[in-house]
Amino acid sequence: MSSFVKSFAELLDQQNFSKEDLVRMLSSQGEELAALFEKAAEIRGQFAGKKVYLRGLVEYSNYCGKDCYYCGIRSGNASVFRYTVTEEEVIQAAKFVQEHGYGSMVIQSGELSSPKFTDTIARLIERIHKETGNTIGITLSLGEQSEATYRKWFDSGAKRYLLRIETSNKELFEKIHPLDENHLYEKRLEAIELLKKTGYQTGTGVMIGLPFQTIPDLADDLLFFQKTDIDMVGMGPYIEHEQTPLYASRESLLPQTERLQLALKMVACLRILMKDINIAATTALQTLNPSAREQALVIGANIIMPNLTPQRYRENYFLYQNKAVTEDDAITYHQYLEQAVKAVGCEIAYHEHGDSKHFASKQSKMPR
Ligand code: 5AD
Repeated sequence: MSSFVKSFAELLDQQNFSKEDLVRMLSSQGEELAALFEKAAEIRGQFAGKKVYLRGLVEYSNYCGKDCYYCGIRSGNASVFRYTVTEEEVIQAAKFVQEHGYGSMVIQSGELSSPKFTDTIARLIERIHKETGNTIGITLSLGEQSEATYRKWFDSGAKRYLLRIETSNKELFEKIHPLDENHLYEKRLEAIELLKKTGYQTGTGVMIGLPFQTIPDLADDLLFFQKTDIDMVGMGPYIEHEQTPLYASRESLLPQTERLQLALKMVACLRILMKDINIAATTALQTLNPSAREQALVIGANIIMPNLTPQRYRENYFLYQNKAVTEDDAITYHQYLEQAVKAVGCEIAYHEHGDSKHFASKQSKMPR
């Protein structure tokens, strides 16, 4: 062991980061924390400029085959009114995306895998491309599926997929999910690999501030993103939901302000660690503080997913309590968002898909 102790500035200037380095960065306070955010902002500027890409989000259905202990739409929550958005409404959202130059849309849903669901999604992807003249990118966030399903949707024209690992710590994963065949850590890992193999720009992510989660766990999550060579990340603070089993552990949680700060530190550390990936400023951040999403943009995030789910369904897609929802129509909200992004010195990039640069650079290095 060398007796040399790195200064925090030296630490931030490194090209490679150990778990200990990341723990130190995630534990920073005061001037060190300011330096961490400054470094992350600098790297964001170098690799992503001021740009923010938009993905119009449709929360397609809250029917779910999974029973995750943290999630408000878990199958065991009998008090949720279950819905599925109509195909025409999805197409309308796609047209909004096209007309307003958002570049991309995300279809997210509870996890379903019936042949009917699989076929409907494939048909929707094809229709979206057809009815928008092939102008918008499509990202899916539809959970664990078979390789054949991932392939089918890819062939239909979806080129990006988000599947969070939730936590890279297997024991913690097993504490926050039922211990059964339907919620296996290994299966989640395998699904992420299948997505990469199928050719998707692949995104993952974690919840931050879960009960029983430690700072070293979060450092491991960051190293997991790096090791998995992920193209995109969406992560946000864990927020308790009364109608879930994990609510019983709420006394052990960090206060929400600390969870929020930890989530922002995670974004900053990730930008320093993986300079050219896409990082989302998530709704969970915004839920804990109305301006946290824009703060995340400054220190590393470059993606926002404005909600385009038709208003009448929104109150049924509460993954966590007090989720930030607007009653504004999509256009009013868009005007607000444009101002909010500008106010922090960033700029919405219109009519661009905003593909992951990391993915593009991996592709160009592949043997032909
Ligand atoms: N708090 C924060 N995020 C949650 N998610 C689900 N439940 C919660 C919660 N209580 C996140 C999960 C999931 C994504 C769609 O929403 O990470 O992957």
